[in-house]
Amino acid sequence: MSEAAESITSGLRTLAQFGATPAGIDRRLFSPADYAARELYVAWARADGRTVTQDRAGNVFARRTGRSDQAPIVTGSHLDTVPTGGPYDGAYGAAAGLWALRELDSADVETEFPLEAVAWAGEEGSRFPLGCLGSSAFAGLNDLASIEALRDDDGVSFAEARDGASGLLRGVPLRDDTRAPSAYVELHIEQGPVLEHRGIRLGNVTAIAGQRRYDVEITGESGHAGTVPMALRRDALAAAAEIVLALETEASAHEGVVLTVGRLVVEPNQTNVIPGRVTFRIDARSIDETLLTRVGERVVDHARHVAAKRGVAARIEQIERRAAVAMDPHMREALSEAFAGLGERALDIPSGAGHDAMCVAAVAPVAMIFVPSAAGRSHVGDEYTSPAELDLGVEALARALVAIDRRLAKALPSRS
Ligand code: GLV
Ligand code: MN
Ligand code: MN
Repeated sequence: MSEAAESITSGLRTLAQFGATPAGIDRRLFSPADYAARELYVAWARADGRTVTQDRAGNVFARRTGRSDQAPIVTGSHLDTVPTGGPYDGAYGAAAGLWALRELDSADVETEFPLEAVAWAGEEGSRFPLGCLGSSAFAGLNDLASIEALRDDDGVSFAEARDGASGLLRGVPLRDDTRAPSAYVELHIEQGPVLEHRGIRLGNVTAIAGQRRYDVEITGESGHAGTVPMALRRDALAAAAEIVLALETEASAHEGVVLTVGRLVVEPNQTNVIPGRVTFRIDARSIDETLLTRVGERVVDHARHVAAKRGVAARIEQIERRAAVAMDPHMREALSEAFAGLGERALDIPSGAGHDAMCVAAVAPVAMIFVPSAAGRSHVGDEYTSPAELDLGVEALARALVAIDRRLAKALPSRS
């Protein structure tokens, strides 16, 4: 990168202003903060001479031409955050795509394949009840019409939000290009403590854990907190609490499975009223798909059993299913080559967190690079990765793009 260029640390600091709250960054999809972040992304890309487009899912693409017109090698991540997110989850990989392309410009590196940086829309599933919205639409895993019909907590549909003031970017052409990428590589913070603990600065991801999300609604009976005897109550929150504890026991019994209830809404949520209705979401993950499916079935059984025992009604719906995904072995080799060129040791590491790469894997060979997260903290405001590690990740990504390009170019039929 040229000396005058802005560092990625400084770029991320600017991005972090969009949606900043005392508890972290709240940049949910199609919010004014998300719009501002995408706008800045486009300004950066255009300043570098990229051709910028967006699609109807809200994904933004910045293209660097190659010698050929093959389907591009794509890199990126997401700009949205959880409501109390940090400055690096997603934003780092999205910005790093642009920074890596810039680095190739500075080094006068030409590639055979076009390179495309992407900022995926709505990876977190924090506004609409589905994660990896943009990348799953791109990969055809969820059709756009069903995504457009999703509603947020205020009843606003994806289509309404996308077509509103903070939706699609004004002045950025729409594209309908559905060509699958030639390859996809995503750079991300680890979001866990392993790299830091091992003293290794780069991770070559082996696989991404599968995910299930369930929507649960428990309906009991509301009533006076002072007059209804304990034995006669049908307390929806007490039932939900028993289900949550059963999930904790279930996950603890299976190495490699994690179950979380991170969202729970109590109604009417009054000190002196017995809770009549509780809705909550279960997030289940494992690298082992078979185990995840089995545990998922047991989760549903537990919830039904507790509800029947307590005389409350339970509606349980699986709202998201993403299969565990192994990274492509050839792509992982290309990453190893890039890391070796940097003289850096890398750790083979699975990802417990979900990423857009798991959706793109349906249509292209994918790989992921991790850099360390201080104390493994993520999805919290105090996420931290040092400037040197952020720079190293960009350098590794730039080299990985070149290594992937060279490998794919070798496999092309000769043009003589
Ligand atoms: C996204 O960050 C997820 O893993 O849920
Ligand atoms: Mn992320
Ligand atoms: Mn996240």
